[in-house]
Amino acid sequence: MCYAIPGRVKEIRDKYVLVDYFGEEKKALNEFYDIAVGDYICAQGGFVIKKVKEDEAKEILSAWQELFFELQDVDLRLSRMDSGKEDSDKKLRLILDKALENIPLKKDELLYLLDLDNPQSCQLLYKSANFLRQKYHKNSCCIHGIIEISNYCRRQCTYCGISTHNKSLSRYRMAAEEIIETSVEAVEKYGFQALVLQSGEDPGYSVDEIAEIITEIKKKVPVLICISFGEIGLEGLEKLYSAGARAILMRFETSNPKIYARIHPGQELNSRLEHIKKAFSLGYLIATGALIGLPGQSNEDIINDIYLAKKLGAEMYSFGPFLPHPKTPLGNFKVPSEELALKTLALARIIDSESAKILVTTALETLCSAARKEGLLAGANSLMLNVTPVKYRKLYAIYPNKANNKELISTQIKEAVSLLKSLGRAPTDLGVSETKAG
Ligand code: 5AD
Repeated sequence: MCYAIPGRVKEIRDKYVLVDYFGEEKKALNEFYDIAVGDYICAQGGFVIKKVKEDEAKEILSAWQELFFELQDVDLRLSRMDSGKEDSDKKLRLILDKALENIPLKKDELLYLLDLDNPQSCQLLYKSANFLRQKYHKNSCCIHGIIEISNYCRRQCTYCGISTHNKSLSRYRMAAEEIIETSVEAVEKYGFQALVLQSGEDPGYSVDEIAEIITEIKKKVPVLICISFGEIGLEGLEKLYSAGARAILMRFETSNPKIYARIHPGQELNSRLEHIKKAFSLGYLIATGALIGLPGQSNEDIINDIYLAKKLGAEMYSFGPFLPHPKTPLGNFKVPSEELALKTLALARIIDSESAKILVTTALETLCSAARKEGLLAGANSLMLNVTPVKYRKLYAIYPNKANNKELISTQIKEAVSLLKSLGRAPTDLGVSETKAG
């Protein structure tokens, strides 16, 4: 099964190809392939990741063609705003009208939205975000796989269940061959085209070993590799980029330096931001964001978090609720509401309507089983499936009862695809749109 529909190359401009994708034009960077006009390619996050043979591409496209337009219709119907219904909250209407016209909202207007507590008003906010998602991104939804390669971590983050605080957790570290095998299987057997490799900050792997693993995976299969190993150092970023990694998932966790210092003993927000900025300057796609509901965090902090993600050039916004883990110093803290998490996704969509890929995080799915659907209807357009070998999953216990801890990859795919179909979304990711890339 293929999660990115191939597109036909219409034009070549230097290292970029312009690709026709059911009538829409997208642009992708071609670093490695010999490509001519008329060829078919698959791209992820704006990078060409493989050439597809013409016969194969035509077969996939003809299988998709009818369904694709059907899905677009369903999505359009579900994302329409019903303008007839009068809402008693006039201020809310005015703010959302501005947002729908893509006029930047002022901070106090964003705060008004984040403070909403009446369920009907929240629904109106989600609908508006969903409308913007449809307007700028159509029905595409990217699906990435994540492989949690090790739960060793040298950090003492006070919220995290795999930090040094958790003395009773059995630790595992996947061997290089196992990581390569799992990645190859995810691509060849299950059709993933983008994989996140994640671990705690594990001194058990050297950067050179990780680089070799990435090189080996890239040799064997066409895939966008996203790294997520914490602060690996600026040289580490360079080495892994040279090895073929093209994206990084690194949250700054909170934009409030005081909260950051409190929950990351001995560390500073600035050093994390330097990492993210360096990665951006090297050409990595940036997936970043923050925890929602941290102790001492205000709604204004959350808005600043979204602004910061935007400023850092986020390709993907990863905002999820903080779920207290009993074996950590913050274990007794309260769980944030699902609404706060959904409102944050909706605000991210409003603040960065045109560019943002917004992830429904596993933490949100853990907080509420309907969250995947609700998130996708509140502005989100990206999912991550867990392709870690099942025997390790429950040990990657960053918070308790993590969703998708047991589900086979095939089951997760089935469920995700069927949900996407019901919402009229197509599991595609074919580079940035031509209008955005300019
Ligand atoms: N609840 C929710 N998310 C958490 N993470 C770590 N601990 C928790 C928790 N208790 C998130 C962090 C990190 C990502 C890998 O997991 O935001 O960036």
